[in-house]
Amino acid sequence: MDTGTITADAAGTWTLGDLTVNRIGFGAMRLTATADGRPGDRDRAVAVLRRAVELGVNHIDTAAFYFSPLRSANELINTALAPYPEDLVVATKVGPGKDPSGRWLPLARPDELRGQVEENLRQLGRDHLDLVNLRQNGLESVAEHFGALAELRDAGLIRHLGLSNVRPHHLPQARAVAPVVCVQNAYGLGFRAGHDQFVRDCAAQGVAYVPFFSIATDRREAGAGGTEDPELVAVADAHGVSTAVIRLAWTLHRGPHVLAIPGTGNPDHLVANVAAGALRLTDDDLTRLEAVHRRGE
Ligand SMILES: NC(=O)c1ccc[n+]([C@@H]2O[C@H](COP(=O)([O-])OP(=O)(O)OC[C@H]3O[C@@H](n4cnc5c(N)ncnc54)[C@H](OP(=O)(O)O)[C@@H]3O)[C@@H](O)[C@H]2O)c1
Repeated sequence: MDTGTITADAAGTWTLGDLTVNRIGFGAMRLTATADGRPGDRDRAVAVLRRAVELGVNHIDTAAFYFSPLRSANELINTALAPYPEDLVVATKVGPGKDPSGRWLPLARPDELRGQVEENLRQLGRDHLDLVNLRQNGLESVAEHFGALAELRDAGLIRHLGLSNVRPHHLPQARAVAPVVCVQNAYGLGFRAGHDQFVRDCAAQGVAYVPFFSIATDRREAGAGGTEDPELVAVADAHGVSTAVIRLAWTLHRGPHVLAIPGTGNPDHLVANVAAGALRLTDDDLTRLEAVHRRGE
């Protein structure tokens, strides 16, 4: 298989509100720094973003708080892609914030969310944001924060709203306030299997499930590179691909509402990740991978 000719539409599409995206997207968090914390190479990051769009990626995940001392994900997206293609959906998230030195700030109050939305608008060079996820942290109820975002949506600053880092009970709280087009949560093969039911519940409600750390799994910000389960390695070998690609293909097999947003600063990994959308796992593969998944419970 010549992976370089496979485009993101091979994964199929999903509609976020009224915005149709290919199910293989791209996460921008890895563009700002290398795994050991050095600022990412600017030209390479810009090239990866442009190549992603050439390969049909039209769902890019970002945040104003994705920055390293010398690089900002939003600025790189703006530089690489503006004027933005009409079909490109840039999803951002608000709630957390960092001071200019990169130190985390407390979760924003509802009245502070407007400033975070405007920060994203300025950095991306947009007049409205396609999709804003409320990334909660420790809230028992998201209703008040989501209500503040719903007002910004009504004011035309935001087209669609989603949730991130949420537990199942947060979804009905938010849906009582305004439509929710997606849930963006940490999830993957052998990682947070306890969320399987939530993934299914989102499907039943027509809400996209957008897993992050689906390659990195429990290594989280440290990225890929852990020891892989031999069963997963065997499935990868049988297809002649990396375990990262099998991990992506597996998430896409969890349902048509699952949208992948793999993060990479590596152009070869980008091509492989887009090609994962064309990989069809067999019933036997899925049985073997289910055993790997269950071991992650
Ligand atoms: N809502 C939230 O709270 C939240 C939190 C974290 C992340 N996110 C979003 O989710 C996106 C995905 O998460 P993530 O980037 O942390 O993790 P990820 O997609 O699970 O994995 C990224 C890691 O895997 C490596 N990788 C990617 N493709 C690979 C391939 N084909 N072969 C081998 N290694 C590969 C990357 O390194 P290389 O750069 O070397 O490829 C990086 O170390 C982020 O970019 C961000 O947009 C959201």
